[in-house]
Amino acid sequence: MDLMTAALNFVVPPASLVMLTFAWPTLTFINTCEWIYNTFFTSEDMENKVIVITGASSGIGEQISYEYAKRRANLVLIARRENRLRGISENARRLGARHVLIMAADVVKEDDCRRFINETINYFGRVDHLVNTASLGHTFYFEEATDSSVFPILMDINFWGNVYPTYVALPYLRQNSGRIIVNASVENWLPLPRMSLYSAAKSALVNFYETLRFEVKDDVGITVATHGWIGTEMTRGKFMVEEGAEMQWKEEREVHVSGGPVEEFAKLIVSGACRGDPYVKYPSWYDIFFPIQGLCTESLVLDISVSFDKWWTEKNLLHWDWKATSRDIS
Ligand SMILES: NC(=O)c1ccc[n+]([C@@H]2O[C@H](COP(=O)([O-])OP(=O)(O)OC[C@H]3O[C@@H](n4cnc5c(N)ncnc54)[C@H](OP(=O)(O)O)[C@@H]3O)[C@@H](O)[C@H]2O)c1
Repeated sequence: MDLMTAALNFVVPPASLVMLTFAWPTLTFINTCEWIYNTFFTSEDMENKVIVITGASSGIGEQISYEYAKRRANLVLIARRENRLRGISENARRLGARHVLIMAADVVKEDDCRRFINETINYFGRVDHLVNTASLGHTFYFEEATDSSVFPILMDINFWGNVYPTYVALPYLRQNSGRIIVNASVENWLPLPRMSLYSAAKSALVNFYETLRFEVKDDVGITVATHGWIGTEMTRGKFMVEEGAEMQWKEEREVHVSGGPVEEFAKLIVSGACRGDPYVKYPSWYDIFFPIQGLCTESLVLDISVSFDKWWTEKNLLHWDWKATSRDIS
């Protein structure tokens, strides 16, 4: 290592910290003013706009649909379980949605994505927001996986399942200065045990959209939501377990999950998207893990992750009977 690099390694981190300490109150003040101004003066009116939501058959996607419905938007709801979409479209209509289309589609297949975007254009003539929430989590230690064929499945749904809908919708989003809403996760900067492939896919997703931000400039807005633990199907039995095959704990999966954080988060994400926010964080105090990862020793970051994992295991997994799982994903 040359002398210059050695000196910079020594000086830059503490100097940056000192600068940040002074800059932080000013930046917070500017951000707050901007937030207030955008909330009251520039928030997008969604009435009659067209919103395509993938992963709308449960959890965050379902609740986001209801939030747009309350804003009197037109909705296109996408997931594989059409029967669930039917009930959700009824609820959305009752809440104020103008028109609701439902389409069974697999977002991992580019042709399916092209079909639902084309049908949206044929019916409504435009797309204003694309909300990507389709996803699948997992809870196995990497070494415990007995079938590597599931690895690409996880990457497909969590990465390509966002990229394909974005790819086909982008020309139409450009026409209306539209917006893409991305569901990432706090795991981007707080990697947790048992979620290696999920975290990897989410990190790839964030880098993909951060790069796209530069490419689309002001023509298309991008809102990246990073959130922690929200009560949804994903947190109540819909996971991929060790054996590999896509696992659904069917009894749990069909349970309607609502209330608390899911609704609160959906409200936050839709108001953030309408305000044009580049990021929506829930809860926002998770931000602190970002500097912790950059500044603290590896062992401290590891300790935090392991404690989190232990707490989570005690809180959730121990109460789940994995033997009750079903492979039926229909
Ligand atoms: N819940 C949390 O604590 C949490 C935390 C951090 C990040 N997130 C992120 O937030 C987003 C929503 O999560 P959630 O908790 O609401 O999950 P969820 O309840 O499990 O919903 C996932 C949705 O994705 C759909 N989906 C899965 N595979 C699909 C495919 N191949 N094609 C089309 N749709 C597909 C599912 O519908 P079908 O099965 O009917 O197709 C379902 O509607 C995800 O991106 C997730 O990673 C969640």
